[in-house]
Amino acid sequence: MKKKYLLGLLLAGSPLLIQAQQPVKESKGFYQFLTDDPTQKPFYNDREGVFARNGMVASAHPEASRVGMEILKKGGNAVDAAVAVQFALAVVHPSAGNIGGGGFMVFRANDGQNYTLDFREKAPLKGGKDMYLDEQGNVIPGLSTLGHLASGVPGSVDGMATAHARFGKLSWKEVIQPSVDLAEKGVVQTAREARGLNAIREVVQKVNPGTTYFLKPDKSDWQEGDTLVQKDLAKVLTAIQKKGREGFYKGKVARILAKDMKKNTGIISRKDLKEYHSTWREAVVGNYKNYKVITMPPTSSGGVALMQLLRLVEPYPLKTWGWNTDSTVQVMVEAERRVYADRAKFLGDPDFVDVPVEKLISYEYLKERWKDFDFAHATDSKAVSGGAIAGYESLETTHFSIVDKDGNAVSITTTLNGGYGSKVIVKGGGFFMNNEMDDFSVKAGVPNMFGLIGNKANEIAPSKRMLSSMTPTIIEKDGKLLMVVGTPGGSTIITSVYQTILNVLEHGMTMQQAVNALKFHHQWLPDKTMFEAGAFTPNTIQKLQNKGYILEQQRGTIGRMDCILVLPDGTLEGGSDPRGDDTSVGY
Ligand code: GLY
Repeated sequence: MKKKYLLGLLLAGSPLLIQAQQPVKESKGFYQFLTDDPTQKPFYNDREGVFARNGMVASAHPEASRVGMEILKKGGNAVDAAVAVQFALAVVHPSAGNIGGGGFMVFRANDGQNYTLDFREKAPLKGGKDMYLDEQGNVIPGLSTLGHLASGVPGSVDGMATAHARFGKLSWKEVIQPSVDLAEKGVVQTAREARGLNAIREVVQKVNPGTTYFLKPDKSDWQEGDTLVQKDLAKVLTAIQKKGREGFYKGKVARILAKDMKKNTGIISRKDLKEYHSTWREAVVGNYKNYKVITMPPTSSGGVALMQLLRLVEPYPLKTWGWNTDSTVQVMVEAERRVYADRAKFLGDPDFVDVPVEKLISYEYLKERWKDFDFAHATDSKAVSGGAIAGYESLETTHFSIVDKDGNAVSITTTLNGGYGSKVIVKGGGFFMNNEMDDFSVKAGVPNMFGLIGNKANEIAPSKRMLSSMTPTIIEKDGKLLMVVGTPGGSTIITSVYQTILNVLEHGMTMQQAVNALKFHHQWLPDKTMFEAGAFTPNTIQKLQNKGYILEQQRGTIGRMDCILVLPDGTLEGGSDPRGDDTSVGY
């Protein structure tokens, strides 16, 4: 095996002497830092970025990106395009795109003002702390994940109407029309979308006995190239197009939704729907070095956690150490361990609990938090105090990033929680409902479907929003837009966004390379670092293991990023994840 780097010693901006890998020569950039195997690459694959001058849409589906681009070309701004993409995703990417779910928007206008909109679902008015427990106080398996009781009151339609009313330039009718067309005329299935529909057929029949939604007329398996027509969804979208939010939260759609709930022991009522409103919130804003990070505040934990993670590693020379070398991974993992412990303890709906955002992201607090870090060995997660054990969340969420010709930027992450949510398809409406209630802690100390163990800050209460990890983020440099970032991935959202940002800012990757780059993840508990195959060299693995880190290679992938980078000459680089159908379209 060709020896590609030397071991060196360097003094590392911390009081400790740190052993780090040093490149023999610089000519191959960060490849040099990665491996002692010349065939190994740091990337999932070699997809190249999309470059354009006037506008860029990066989303999870080529049709949704095309729709966004058409809106931009028509003279719509980033918010117009975002509304069109959100509704298009509900048609073309039904596992996560939605009108029956919720999400978060970070918007940076070209004058530098920033805005965030929380359109996360809420617990129904009849919801309560013990709604998923039996008489003995035990969690009833599946109740918060499958079927009608698993849904929170959807927020996406109100969110889009609210964003459009404040910032939209084109008419509401124009921005909804592409999704109506897609539902009516049909969407050609990608191999991935076809596989997804085939995989859920049985459970969909169990939850919606006899339904013909999402079935081929001859009931055979979906194949790549088949066309999915969604007539009832087209009618719902038309009602929304005609009446705005009222087309969903009142009138026929609200009636059929509430009726479906009642008939099936769900508890979302017409009053719940009528009273749902999304909320403008103050962004979490902070500097990382000379970059300004604008990100989502609670009800998502994502922004607070991201800011903490960046600031915890800020003193360390990640760039000098190199991408995914043992020292770089070690400080990033130790930051993650502490931040996820904080997430479990402090984060919840700020309309219900006091979340100490400024304190959590302050340098003083973080310095204190870092005190027990020792480069000699892994910190024991059990010794890191925090509220509860965080576990895995759903990987089925979706993110899109948009920049328009005037430099307005939108970053939206939106979800049904699990893939296809609760698997409930509203009868007469043809759309999936979320199973977001499972993002609450259904019982203190008991893990939910993805291993989350809850605490008081995130317990269920009527009209309360469940905690999220979604991390739509925008980065500025010198007062100018630099990057729009986000991904699905449940609890891995935060760490994927973190790595993608550092890949660009510290390791000099292009946007697409940063997206392609293999990822890793630690979330305090369980105390292990999961990583995509190839993310660490055998040498790095050995060194980390010697210090007591438990490493677990994943069979699957981490993250499905859709991001945009503004290059120094103003050119936009769209980076969409090759791990999915994700596509950037620019003009
Ligand atoms: N349902 C995943 C999240 O909101 O983080």
